[in-house]
Amino acid sequence: MGKSGMDAFWMPYTANRQFKKTPRIIKAAEGAYYITDDGRRIFDGLSGLWTTGAGHNRLEIRDAVAHQLGTLDYSPAFQFGHPLAFELAERIVELAPDTLDHVFYTNSGSECTDTATKIARAYWRQIGQPAKTKIIGRVKGYHGASWGAISFGGIPANKKLWGQGVDSDHMGHTLIPGNEFTRGLPQSGAELADELESIIRLHDASNVAAVIVEPIAGSAGVVVPPAGYLKRMREICDKHDVLLIFDEVITAFGRIGDWFAATAFDVVPDMLNVAKQITNGAIPLGAVLVKGDIYDAFMETGGAEYNIELPHGYTYSSHPVACAAGMASLDILEKEGLIERVAALAPTFETKIHQLQGSPHVSDIRNYGFAAGITLEPYPGEPTRRPMEVALSCWEKGFYVRYGGDTIQLGLPFITTEAEMDGVINAIGESL
Ligand SMILES: Cc1ncc(COP(=O)(O)O)c(C=O)c1O
Repeated sequence: MGKSGMDAFWMPYTANRQFKKTPRIIKAAEGAYYITDDGRRIFDGLSGLWTTGAGHNRLEIRDAVAHQLGTLDYSPAFQFGHPLAFELAERIVELAPDTLDHVFYTNSGSECTDTATKIARAYWRQIGQPAKTKIIGRVKGYHGASWGAISFGGIPANKKLWGQGVDSDHMGHTLIPGNEFTRGLPQSGAELADELESIIRLHDASNVAAVIVEPIAGSAGVVVPPAGYLKRMREICDKHDVLLIFDEVITAFGRIGDWFAATAFDVVPDMLNVAKQITNGAIPLGAVLVKGDIYDAFMETGGAEYNIELPHGYTYSSHPVACAAGMASLDILEKEGLIERVAALAPTFETKIHQLQGSPHVSDIRNYGFAAGITLEPYPGEPTRRPMEVALSCWEKGFYVRYGGDTIQLGLPFITTEAEMDGVINAIGESL
């Protein structure tokens, strides 16, 4: 591909000028590997973008998608339905904690953020508390790129350019001194959840609709919650009548060795967002899992039966091909026991990744399931440069890892062997 052939595509979240000088082009993929345009095999250390845990180009998904395209390629999402949308929703709620028994489909994590927070605001309006509009997010949180998502997210670079967003406030993150190099959940810091109560008191609960957090913050560099922190958050939400939304766009469907963080940590939110791994990345699909009480409130206050209870949705909500990919992807996770595999091998990965403690520039390592974040000391005045250099060096060595902020991130495919774990960790070590 000539350089001139690259100009038209304005790449998302990408250093376009740098990329177009030294492109990294992926032409094909197979299992845990990409194949580049110059024929190199690259280990996929982030499962795409936390999407493709079961490995690439799975025949079962390809067949399900092909079959669906030949049966029903599209059907209107509004006022009509198709069987797979109902079947997949039933299947998701069977896997989810009991009270999360309704599914609203989207196409992405960003749309899940907008959908869940719109449902939250509308819910309070429907039951007579219209002042409850404010959404509380968390510093370092990432919920996507929509106006809602950048408002509730807490990554400064994503706020710098856009100014005023949707009514929100933010609690602090949970990366505290003393917890560096913790394996799994830090044992101290649960009290950091109390800041939520202070913020609710500041604005008054009568003005606060919901809090949205990633149980484990992914894009921030795999920030793992202190033991007991999420439970405390749940208690504070209950005490003040504030809805709790878990953004499980990364953590759901196996990444942490369980179906959901809600099940792993035994804390049930009022809404739970999923995307990415639900189709193994093959076709865009997201979903907001909603508590029955909230759904029922809309049904009860919806007026005449022909009224639309929630005027919200997307042309591609419940796309039949995405639903087919979702069913096939869940089949793979179940049949191959991949979630159990992640749980069984997580301690091995933990031991291996923490061997990087003591390597040059490493100031923290965090891990849970098949996810890990490594914080690097920055070059003076150039906070993001070192992780980029390390990740690009890994790419040269045949390993794709993610860099973001001052972190390197790993989200191993669920099919990763121990030798492959060693390979990618050694590549990071050598690059450092
Ligand atoms: C936790 C979380 N929420 C939401 C999103 C946004 O998802 P999308 O890019 O599909 O809109 C992401 C994307 O990385 C994410 O990690």
